[in-house]
Amino acid sequence: MRKFVPWVDENGNTQYLMGSFFLQDYRELSGFCDFLDDKNISSYFELGVWRGQMLNFMKRRLGLSRCYGADIYPPSQERESPYPNMKNIVQTEVEPVMDGIELFIGNSHTWEYVEWRQSIGEVDLVFIDACHEPGDVFQDLMVEYAMGLARFVAMHDIAKWSGPHMAWERICDEMKLFSVDVGTELGIGVLKGPREGGCVRLKNRSEWK
Ligand SMILES: C[S@@+](CC[C@H](N)C(=O)[O-])C[C@H]1O[C@@H](n2cnc3c(N)ncnc32)[C@H](O)[C@@H]1O
Repeated sequence: MRKFVPWVDENGNTQYLMGSFFLQDYRELSGFCDFLDDKNISSYFELGVWRGQMLNFMKRRLGLSRCYGADIYPPSQERESPYPNMKNIVQTEVEPVMDGIELFIGNSHTWEYVEWRQSIGEVDLVFIDACHEPGDVFQDLMVEYAMGLARFVAMHDIAKWSGPHMAWERICDEMKLFSVDVGTELGIGVLKGPREGGCVRLKNRSEWK
């Protein structure tokens, strides 16, 4: 089934996302972008880009002036879907990552990554969607907060996937700005980033689910 993400451009005309294929539920992605609309997001970094198509979408949809991605593997159409049975996935044709998007190809759990992340500097929105194991999610979050360069830190797959879900459930509600979960195994959550005074503060253990 083909699904397209509708959005309204600066002239008030409805546009539809075309030419992409990425691992997002189109209803959640629409809600996420609606939340971001009045946040003046001009720079975006996605950790875990897979085929790189969400990068292209976000660059167009948010009118980004700076856009970055990182992944162990270069984005490629050849990369198989890790979720072949997922419904409502945004699914259209694959296009190359757009010119002007800077990529780091390597493991986020290395000093090379930290050095590169520091080199790109302040970013309005960081979207963490890499390895979903609890320890890996923890490390990716901690590095991002330790570097202190993000206004908003979004996490994908907070609904059910082990690492992102555990982190989202345990982080204090006062750090949370937005979440959307339409009942799939995915879900997107946005945290106050370090530049907005956010930190990875956990709830009391008795409140953990
Ligand atoms: C769920 S996919 C990302 C989907 C993508 N954000 C999208 O919307 O289409 C997760 C990606 O994270 C990458 N990844 C996993 N562990 C990583 C790590 N330690 N460092 C960098 N990338 C990693 C994988 O290679 C994979 O492409």
